[in-house]
Amino acid sequence: MKLLVTGGAGYIGSVVTRLLLDAGHEVVVLDDLRTGHREALAPEATWVDAPIHDAARVLTPGAGFDGVLHFAALIAAGESMVRPELYWDTNTVGSLALIDAVRAAGVPRMVFSSTAAVYGNPVELPIPETAVKAPTNTYGATKLAVDMALTSEAFGHGLAAVSLRYFNVAGAYLRGDLAIGERHDPETHLIPIALDVASGRREKLQLFGDDYPTVDGTCVRDYIHVEDLARAHLLALTTAAPGRHRIYNLGNGAGFTNRQVVDVVREITGRPLPVEVAPRREGDPAELVASSALAREELGWVPEKPTLHDMVGDAWAFYRTHVLERP
Ligand SMILES: NC(=O)c1ccc[n+]([C@@H]2O[C@H](COP(=O)([O-])OP(=O)(O)OC[C@H]3O[C@@H](n4cnc5c(N)ncnc54)[C@H](O)[C@@H]3O)[C@@H](O)[C@H]2O)c1
Repeated sequence: MKLLVTGGAGYIGSVVTRLLLDAGHEVVVLDDLRTGHREALAPEATWVDAPIHDAARVLTPGAGFDGVLHFAALIAAGESMVRPELYWDTNTVGSLALIDAVRAAGVPRMVFSSTAAVYGNPVELPIPETAVKAPTNTYGATKLAVDMALTSEAFGHGLAAVSLRYFNVAGAYLRGDLAIGERHDPETHLIPIALDVASGRREKLQLFGDDYPTVDGTCVRDYIHVEDLARAHLLALTTAAPGRHRIYNLGNGAGFTNRQVVDVVREITGRPLPVEVAPRREGDPAELVASSALAREELGWVPEKPTLHDMVGDAWAFYRTHVLERP
């Protein structure tokens, strides 16, 4: 297939691009590098340096694209509360422009990066796709709006659409000398922050709350290896059907507490990891765990790297070679 990957210079988009190229697809990456990294761009893919608002420049009717995988977005939930206009414009207005371009160019299928943040505080665990959607931050709301636009697009114009709602993505893609991993700035994700602390680049790790009703009092989150996540995109591309919008949660269905993550980071790095317990953060649910039963059933998706040791081990291998050993 000829595929457009938006956000292909980012963490997840660059791993999916790699898997698509490995599978023999032709890939064009649309990314203006606002948060991505030039080195993460696959040399075999064609790179277009443009915002998704200008997607029609690439998705022309004669260009012959078979599908779009849409990762480009701003992803920091905290920032989305203080700069909401930026999130609505980038994530929602930009995505609507992309959907317009998809329609005008007659592109048959689209896979969208949605998020667990659309659910807000869960009323049932593990969380199924049918759970109440009540985002507690602007980021989640901007993503839910795009999910809804895709439902309309499939119904009104026959698009084959798939939304994949990721829980916490972790780990790295490693093959020989090639390593693709996570580098957000500022970093808000627990595992890369813990690696920063273990390697001495940050002083200590803050655990927000240790009095939640969980096994050790810290929050439980569902982690998914980026390579398992990436494989789900290839499955979604082949199962997408015209006029249908399918939505799948992607997680392991088993959560890990923040303390369990810290312990595994200590074990894998072999380094001390100073921790400070801080007050709970507003709006942080005690437990967020996905039901991925639908993805398993309909996509035939099975996670191959479900353990924290898989994820932290691969993240550390990337971190050592691409973060610590580089300026
Ligand atoms: N990382 C996670 O744990 C996680 C969890 C749930 C959902 N997601 C979703 O997955 C997707 C990818 O996340 P990531 O962690 O790879 O983020 P990332 O910041 O590493 O990558 C995003 C990429 O999109 C590009 N981009 C952003 N806005 C753009 C725009 N308007 N025009 C062109 N390019 C633009 C950036 O330059 C960057 O390369 C996002 O849509 C995010 O909401 C991520």
